[in-house]
Amino acid sequence: MRLDKYLSQSTDFSRKEVRRYLKLGEVTLNGEEVRDPAMHVDEINDEIYLSGYPIEAPGEKYLMLNKPLGCVCANHDGTHPTVLSLIDLPRANELIICGRLDVDTTGLVLITTDGQWAHKVTSPKHKTGKLYEVVTADPIPESAVDKFANGMKLINDNIKTKPAELHITAENEAEVILTEGRYHQVKRMFGAIGNKVEELHRTRIGNIHLDEELELGEYRFLTPEEIDSIQ
Ligand code: URA
Repeated sequence: MRLDKYLSQSTDFSRKEVRRYLKLGEVTLNGEEVRDPAMHVDEINDEIYLSGYPIEAPGEKYLMLNKPLGCVCANHDGTHPTVLSLIDLPRANELIICGRLDVDTTGLVLITTDGQWAHKVTSPKHKTGKLYEVVTADPIPESAVDKFANGMKLINDNIKTKPAELHITAENEAEVILTEGRYHQVKRMFGAIGNKVEELHRTRIGNIHLDEELELGEYRFLTPEEIDSIQ
């Protein structure tokens, strides 16, 4: 995107006003003074300042975060740090967390300012599969595969769970794919077959895979392809 377009779309200034600021040397791009209105801006990686104030890229924001242990998926919490406290962006209070992971679950969390997109990620109607890697206390029997596939009644829940895929990958390890997100669902499903989840890590939502380059606590912007993959 052109620099003058970026600045006028992200502020209340017209393109004419923006050009005046550029002429006055009020704009910096990655720390360097810039005066060319037609200069190309990388909306994700470039840092732009006008009169010393950072100017965010226009439009909605879409991020993936690798949630660490001990952090909660909430806007505010009196006890634990929140996932939003890990994000260093202006107006972080406008961000929506697309579904919750428990405080002791790690892995992929999607975060956006786009309410409709967030709804597609979380609503069971959209059948967006979420993949969890699970480590359990006891061995997982083959018979659990059908139980997960057929849906099961959970304590304090009248409606059976939707069909879920269970792939046993080692004696005490499995991958589970869910298309809904009930309270503590994976832990309660293993509880219903008499087992206990010891570790839980989410690695995929729809076709968005947790970026292996991201350390726990790190985040990055989604690519346009990743954003469009949520339907
Ligand atoms: N299921 C759980 O039990 N916990 C999570 O954090 C996510 C799914």
